[in-house]
Amino acid sequence: MATAPTTDLGFRPVRIAGTGSYLPEKVMTNEDLATLVDTSDEWITTRTGIKERRIAAEDQFTSHLASEAAKAACEQAGIAPEDLELIIVATITPDTLTPSTACYVQEQLGAEKAVAFDVSAACSGFLYAMEIAQSLIATGGRGNALIVGAEKLSAFVNWTDRNTCVLFGDGAGAAVLTPAEEGQGRILSSTMGTDGRQAELLNIPGGGSACPITLSNAEEKLATLAMQGREVFKHAVNAMRRASEEAIEQAGLKPADINLVIPHQANLRIIDAIIDRLEVSKDDVFINLDKYGNTSAAAVAIALDEANRQGRISPGDHILLVAFGAGLTWASAAIQW
Ligand code: ACO
Repeated sequence: MATAPTTDLGFRPVRIAGTGSYLPEKVMTNEDLATLVDTSDEWITTRTGIKERRIAAEDQFTSHLASEAAKAACEQAGIAPEDLELIIVATITPDTLTPSTACYVQEQLGAEKAVAFDVSAACSGFLYAMEIAQSLIATGGRGNALIVGAEKLSAFVNWTDRNTCVLFGDGAGAAVLTPAEEGQGRILSSTMGTDGRQAELLNIPGGGSACPITLSNAEEKLATLAMQGREVFKHAVNAMRRASEEAIEQAGLKPADINLVIPHQANLRIIDAIIDRLEVSKDDVFINLDKYGNTSAAAVAIALDEANRQGRISPGDHILLVAFGAGLTWASAAIQW
């Protein structure tokens, strides 16, 4: 395939050639959760906007969700998995600590030519993966790349903690990135940021080398998500607003040029606060958190695929992707479709 002429910087432009997503069948509603913990549909809806989420089957791992989303993205891109040269899976809920979930996905897809690895950047992971893949394609190091955000958060949630268990869900989203030809859309800009000083605000404290799970601490559920929600909320609004502005500016655009914003799907109130400050119309923001809750690294990827397949994005449109998560991490990208 002929590639586009290099840009002024000497890099190949990169585009999204196809998207895909996969959501497990089982639906868990707010009413279902109210039978597990002291909560209500009213509290969850008004505080978050979430109505229901999907829960993977016991024998369905993060890699299985990722591979289903990947197959759909490859099919839409018209690229056979055998022709992938790079697979990056963004996840905080890997099948195993090692090898990476990307290795299982490579095997499940039969993508033997692809080098495969994971990135761990929580909800920002899909956009971190996008910038890494874009860089490797742009500099000529790799050709066709698959990026996936996939999570089985239900396996890492404390189902007795109402502060967290109502927020999360399972799912996967994927995109195939390729060199862009003349006249095709491309990724215009991307940003990434990290503040490790805030690591304690949102983490899975146990199960790693700092705190192995042992017989004596097994009851404490340390290998589940712990979050200081109110603090995270404040950081999320500020970081996502800044990241959005940076991506728009670096792309040489104005907020009014953005046709669709696809934000991380954690909380409707966070999204509302960002839109207010960005002065983007609410109609130009894609929201599906009511159906899926917060699927961490998968959220922006699933939303991108749904927006794409629902015809919310047309060739030439400018879209803004923006995410925020544990780390703390944040990331954004402006794309011409
Ligand atoms: N049902 C009923 N009451 C509840 C529930 C629940 N599920 N959860 C908490 N409450 C109670 C609390 O106990 C508290 O009661 P109190 O006042 O008697 O102490 C009250 O509701 C208010 O609790 P807050 O935590 O202050 O509620 P807040 O309005 O901040 O909403 C939320 C909590 C939804 C978690 C919000 O803070 C939030 O969305 N934070 C950001 C989450 C996020 O973006 N995370 C980043 C990505 S996730 C990742 O990276 C994996």
